[in-house]
Amino acid sequence: MTDTSAQRSGHAAAETNTSRSAELFSRAKQSIPGGASRSTVLTDPHPVYVAEGHGAWITDVEGRRLLDANNNYTSIILGHGDPTIDAAVRAQLERGTAYSMATTIEIELAELLCERVETMDQIRFCNSGTEAVMGAIKAARAFTGRPMIVKVEGSYHGTYDHAEASLDPDPSEWGVADAPTTIAYAAGTPASLSDEVGIIPFNDAVAAEAVIRGAGERCAAVLLDAMPSRVGMPAIEQSFIDAIVDTAREVGALVILDEVISFRLGSGGAQALLGLEPDLTCVAKIIGGGFPVGGVGGRSEVMSVFAKQGGQRAAVPSGGTFTANPVTMTAGLACMQALDSAAFSRLDELGERSRSGLRRAFDESDLEWQVHGRGSLFCIHPNRRTIRTFRDARHTSDEAVTMMRLHQGLLDRQVLLSNYGMGCWNLATSDDDIDLFIDAVVATAADIR
Ligand SMILES: Cc1ncc(COP(=O)(O)O)c(C=O)c1O
Repeated sequence: MTDTSAQRSGHAAAETNTSRSAELFSRAKQSIPGGASRSTVLTDPHPVYVAEGHGAWITDVEGRRLLDANNNYTSIILGHGDPTIDAAVRAQLERGTAYSMATTIEIELAELLCERVETMDQIRFCNSGTEAVMGAIKAARAFTGRPMIVKVEGSYHGTYDHAEASLDPDPSEWGVADAPTTIAYAAGTPASLSDEVGIIPFNDAVAAEAVIRGAGERCAAVLLDAMPSRVGMPAIEQSFIDAIVDTAREVGALVILDEVISFRLGSGGAQALLGLEPDLTCVAKIIGGGFPVGGVGGRSEVMSVFAKQGGQRAAVPSGGTFTANPVTMTAGLACMQALDSAAFSRLDELGERSRSGLRRAFDESDLEWQVHGRGSLFCIHPNRRTIRTFRDARHTSDEAVTMMRLHQGLLDRQVLLSNYGMGCWNLATSDDDIDLFIDAVVATAADIR
């Protein structure tokens, strides 16, 4: 897809402080601290403000068209403005957007998800992945009567205090590799966090066993993302999965699988592909069909903590004004119904084409870059070191600058990617789009080498 002269001039304006996005950012900083409510849109020198999106492409306020390799951080899976979701949502809008009453559409989406995910007898909805992880942690604490969780160093699970422990610790704070120090992410987090969260390195079975055993009878759950984006999406090793599941069972703790991103790998999620049987699963993103959503599902016995028992309030009360709202439930149901096995195969093909194409092109151009990922997901790294853990994946300061320049250089070549190399494809993406992406990444990497 080539750009028109109007797009090229918009594109030049985007690089200057006279661009519409630069003006909007100056204005935004007056009323929003930092200029945006969502820190991931804050790219240098200013966020790119969007005008509209259709299929695999977005247009920014300068009129520049961008191939979307980010897809709202993996939540868009059918494409922007998908007609099926659009029609279903429009029909619901005519009937109202929110009521203080239960809806049948919530039951239908719950039934679909419980049918697809083997380990999910029941599911309780909420409005974000952050809330889903928080709900799962609270459920595990209530079910086991224990205070502590264990999580992977560098793994992102949203912004709940315990879930964001050791999300991006500075190397000076890391501690030893096989027993990482628990580091609070937000200033002001109570110091008790270090007694309530144990940290394990990704893909280190021996360390995981030791830390979970150390937590022992205080451990309510081990929280795991099998494809952690901030750990660079290296393949999860079977010995690590076994160590977590076996040792959690041994000490009487639950396993919480965070499938907020990895649920886009297949109709039964990553767990079906990996043979993993968590007690609780967190889902979000794609299950809302483009609208804000989250959900915690799992075995009925554990999920019963969310239910009123004999007139008593639930062990873990949960709810919210917009929880399971009919617009989200409608969009989510339309989206999930469209995701049949042919759709997942096509998503796999798109991901494989981008990863294998990048690998070939990096080799042919002698670029010291690599790419990890699975299904429609990928993560690009500006180095060739072996990546198994967060400490391997964490960018040096030079690499962080390189990734920032990749992000900016890709915008100049009509591609939108996150500024840390993680991306994914939606179903409206064509093979030609993927080839454009590969050429753009390799040309940009060659420019900044
Ligand atoms: C693995 C994982 N868990 C949880 C979350 C939090 O989800 P949300 O942004 O919907 O709160 C994210 C968000 O990117 C995520 O990637």
